[in-house]
Amino acid sequence: MKTLSYHILDITENCSRANATVIKLDITENQSSDTYCIQIEDNGDGMSEEMLKKVHDPFFTSRTTRKVGLGIPLFRQNALQAGGDFSIDSKLNKGTVVKAIFGLSNIDRPPVGDLPDTIVWLIASFDKDIRFVYTHRTDSGEYIFDTDQIREALDNISFSHPEIKSMLKEMIKENLEEIKATKN
Ligand SMILES: Nc1ncnc2c1ncn2[C@@H]1O[C@H](COP(=O)(O)OP(=O)(O)O)[C@@H](O)[C@H]1O
Ligand SMILES: [Mg+2]
Repeated sequence: MKTLSYHILDITENCSRANATVIKLDITENQSSDTYCIQIEDNGDGMSEEMLKKVHDPFFTSRTTRKVGLGIPLFRQNALQAGGDFSIDSKLNKGTVVKAIFGLSNIDRPPVGDLPDTIVWLIASFDKDIRFVYTHRTDSGEYIFDTDQIREALDNISFSHPEIKSMLKEMIKENLEEIKATKN
């Protein structure tokens, strides 16, 4: 079964392919509504209405390398199976918002996976200057990881440096523990 982290990686790849310069990942956990909500927003190329309709169909892709598009349909299917909801909002030349809600305690919710590892892998893999802002909210608090702030603090050192990577992973991990983010 795919983890939520895997889906985040997959959906974010669409954003960077769509030439986004800012990608925002928002994760909101709520015990009282029993929801785990993942929203991924970008300021990239966006999609026309016609294209947006097609995107819900499995196998639609605008890529030419591999003629199967499954990222969005699988994310949607997993959210709906886990008692949740799914939506995409997109405007041509403005950007795209993908939102998936999972039942937090639902037995069919995929495990979270290794979020710190995924986030760090992601920002290190961007081949251009993309600002990535990750906000994680729980009933215990909020954590914001913003690559612009980190770049400034680290004097623009590359995120692909092994030591920087492990330092960032550790930092995210500790902050997620502090706000009691769901681990599995
Ligand atoms: N954030 C986005 N911005 C612009 N277009 C997108 C975005 N996400 C998805 N798309 C369009 O939807 C298609 C299907 O996406 P997806 O289901 O992830 O499959 P794949 O990435 O394999 O093509 C993409 O090929 C792209 O044309
Ligand atoms: Mg994709």
